[in-house]
Amino acid sequence: MKKNVVVIGYGGMGGNFHAARALKSDVLNLLGVYDIDEKRCAEAQEKGIFVYDSLDAVLADERVEIVIVAVPNDDHLGIVVRALEAGKHVVCEKPVALSLDELDQMIAASKKSGKLFTVHQNRRFDEDFRLIKKIVDEGVIGAPLRIESRVHGSRGIPGDWRGMKKHGGGMMLDWGVHLIDQALQIIKEPISKIHCTMTNYTNKEVDDGFYLTITFASGVEYYVEVGTYNFISLPRFYMKAENGSAMIRDWLGSAEISKCKYWYEGEVKPVQTAAGLTKTMAPRDIVSTENFEIEPEKFDVHDYFRNFCRAIDGEEEMLVKHDEARLVMRVMELAFLSAEQGTTVDFSF
Ligand SMILES: NC(=O)c1ccc[n+]([C@@H]2O[C@H](COP(=O)([O-])OP(=O)(O)OC[C@H]3O[C@@H](n4cnc5c(N)ncnc54)[C@H](O)[C@@H]3O)[C@@H](O)[C@H]2O)c1
Repeated sequence: MKKNVVVIGYGGMGGNFHAARALKSDVLNLLGVYDIDEKRCAEAQEKGIFVYDSLDAVLADERVEIVIVAVPNDDHLGIVVRALEAGKHVVCEKPVALSLDELDQMIAASKKSGKLFTVHQNRRFDEDFRLIKKIVDEGVIGAPLRIESRVHGSRGIPGDWRGMKKHGGGMMLDWGVHLIDQALQIIKEPISKIHCTMTNYTNKEVDDGFYLTITFASGVEYYVEVGTYNFISLPRFYMKAENGSAMIRDWLGSAEISKCKYWYEGEVKPVQTAAGLTKTMAPRDIVSTENFEIEPEKFDVHDYFRNFCRAIDGEEEMLVKHDEARLVMRVMELAFLSAEQGTTVDFSF
């Protein structure tokens, strides 16, 4: 049987994504939405969606089983805790909180109420991420030495609350949270160090991008870069591994792999540079490398809520677990600290 859901916040994510998808879901039944903005409420009503007149009314409705929280980041805490206290299961948008302390208050409310609470880390279903993870998991080119994960745009931060500190704006909280969550799904090792610098090319109040290196216990580095002032974009993923290199250029593209067959080559043909010939930087040939592509697989984003509903019924573990959300939050906190101090910081929890 479908589970009754209400979406709080009928904006970009609450309206276009959650409410729209809940209407097409095989596991969710959209009872209605609630938004503090009358214009947004009118838009929902025009689409035939029931609009609650207050958060209290949502929480008092005994039919509501799941509350999805899709409001600006600084309003997550209060709504999540109230919904859990009212006996609802809660899915909160990312970044789930503005600090680890806030997140821990949410987790405590979930434990106290016995209701499930999780974070909408929907980019675990992104094809590019799944593809690089598969290459790592299957050891296609051996263990990774360094992975670089980038997203680049050129229009700065969207001109809404995302540019304001008090609402939890900035690209670390907006995009960093996705890419760090992905990193921690790929490299399952303790973290040893964090180094981050943040940029303010287009916005002085909050970061409009950052350069973050997470160093893991074995020494493998995972580099995350978010840029909103890049008129030429670098590839989405680049990986150096024990036996070769991999690159995924675009969100939906295939992976290009160059796998080392023979480390030593008979004859290296030098390449011409302005200052002369170099063998060191000359490209490999097809005798010593094997070059091929791996196509991405398609994933169904509805699987996120299918999993959550099965978790409510005790049939599966929740996809996004509390410990995982806490680790992502801690990495972001230490990234801010590293950027502020201009130093590399040891990872601590
Ligand atoms: N998972 C993703 O891929 C993804 C993508 C975009 C946004 N988000 C997240 O979704 C959340 C919302 O972002 P958005 O882009 O939809 O913002 P938005 O500004 O488009 O919409 C937010 C909506 O919440 C309403 N609102 C604000 N405070 C409220 C309150 N206290 N009670 C009820 N409604 C309230 C606003 O009126 C607005 O309609 C953020 O946390 C954001 O980070 C996630």
